[in-house]
Amino acid sequence: MNRSPALPFDLSGIHLQPGRGLARQLYQALRERILDGRLAGGTRLPASRELAARLGISRNTVTRALDQLYAEGYVAGRVGDGTYVAELPRSQPVVNAAATPTATSPALQLVHSHHLATPAAGAPRAFRIGVPAFDLFPFETWARLQARFWRKPSPARLGYGDPAGDMQLRELIAAYLRNSRGLTCTAQQVLITCGSQQAISLCAQLLVQPGARVALENPGYRAAGHAFAVAGAQLCGIAVDGEGLDVAALQRLNDCRLAYVTPAHQYPTGVTLSLPRRLALLEWAKRVDGWIIEDDYDGEYRYSGTPLAPLAALDDQQRVIYVGTFGKLAFPALRLGYLVLPPALAEPFARRQALELRHLEVGTQAVMAEFIAAGHFQRHVRRMRQVARSRRDALLKAWPQSIPGCSPLPAVEAGLHLSIKVATRAREHELIAAARAADIEMNPLSDYWLPGSETPEDARAGLVLGFAAVPEAQIVEALQRLRRAWRL
Ligand SMILES: Cc1ncc(COP(=O)(O)O)c(C=O)c1O
Repeated sequence: MNRSPALPFDLSGIHLQPGRGLARQLYQALRERILDGRLAGGTRLPASRELAARLGISRNTVTRALDQLYAEGYVAGRVGDGTYVAELPRSQPVVNAAATPTATSPALQLVHSHHLATPAAGAPRAFRIGVPAFDLFPFETWARLQARFWRKPSPARLGYGDPAGDMQLRELIAAYLRNSRGLTCTAQQVLITCGSQQAISLCAQLLVQPGARVALENPGYRAAGHAFAVAGAQLCGIAVDGEGLDVAALQRLNDCRLAYVTPAHQYPTGVTLSLPRRLALLEWAKRVDGWIIEDDYDGEYRYSGTPLAPLAALDDQQRVIYVGTFGKLAFPALRLGYLVLPPALAEPFARRQALELRHLEVGTQAVMAEFIAAGHFQRHVRRMRQVARSRRDALLKAWPQSIPGCSPLPAVEAGLHLSIKVATRAREHELIAAARAADIEMNPLSDYWLPGSETPEDARAGLVLGFAAVPEAQIVEALQRLRRAWRL
């Protein structure tokens, strides 16, 4: 070790606060100075007695701090020769900005440029998008089931579980999908995830080759696009019209074998994919030997007739990966969702899930299983559908008749939100800014387009409003405020 001559040991800037772990504070202050080079390797530390006197603390405290530094290798000592700062490898100084970690790793760069915006947080307000009427969730029942589970959990469930998730919950989900959604599947095909986003992200990790094309609805769910882009995909936006995804445009796209779609209620336009398009989409997957990811995020919300059977129910080629979430039926913070996988993908997805998080936390899965088994879930789904319909009606009834630059409200047969066309981007901006100033949430439709879309800017403009987040009276009151804000 190079030994510096005994320079005066600089203690400036070390201010220890009494009563808050003096030894820990001294250890941290010295460690920081060693790591950032203010205390160079080889510097000799004063004797503990001297340090104690200069800092006005006990020698015992100094000894404890030095012992910790010694144990962790920041200082070294020789009997009779004092204590020295260890020679540590120094990182090279940053020469230019391009050498920062975000620029050096392609993965970090991708995450940087595909930032997943956090949806609006806090208590729900009119017209928040993406949330159900979670004010009506039966929390007492949930709390009772939670308490019952945790009071005496079976030891068999407290070790490591199946990466694909709790078997009882998977069986109940499969039975629910078979009976209520017409989707024939087995529990072995179901994999429990941390909401839809993690399900989509798993698909991206396992089905996307870096550089490969992924087809997405445009406008569409940007969070899914980000997951594919971060896995190295080249995103290809496909137009959406009154029948949903323009499958003919998808068919013209070369070298693409993966499509992400929201057939029940296109996000964010609200269109339902027509049956001819569904069949054409399945035909496309067969022809290109590809996969379709069906995100059925709000498929239970259908206001005329029964909910549509998912695309996966029509798939006789095992090419559809179905994504479901409890976030739109219970509440998003529950973070519980699932995938229904073609049998050939069940095993690799479970292995990838194990790498990612071993498996989901046991309590929420077990309680959701009980919640379904005891019939609460089905009752809640029915209630949520009725409530969302009546909140939809409140919005449709009290919505202003004619708003300059705004199309009339569309018919709303499904989902938890609607979208309205606006004539120009400038008008969209004006309407959103005035609404937000009046404490009313709504999103600009133009935010849902992929960057570089060919559609002219004004044709991308619109408003997206959620109608399920708050009760009818709050919807009516918010619309009164909105009339004033928009000077109608
Ligand atoms: C299209 C779409 N898919 C999925 C989700 C739900 O995601 P998660 O289950 O991760 O909360 C949303 C939420 O807004 C959505 O809009």
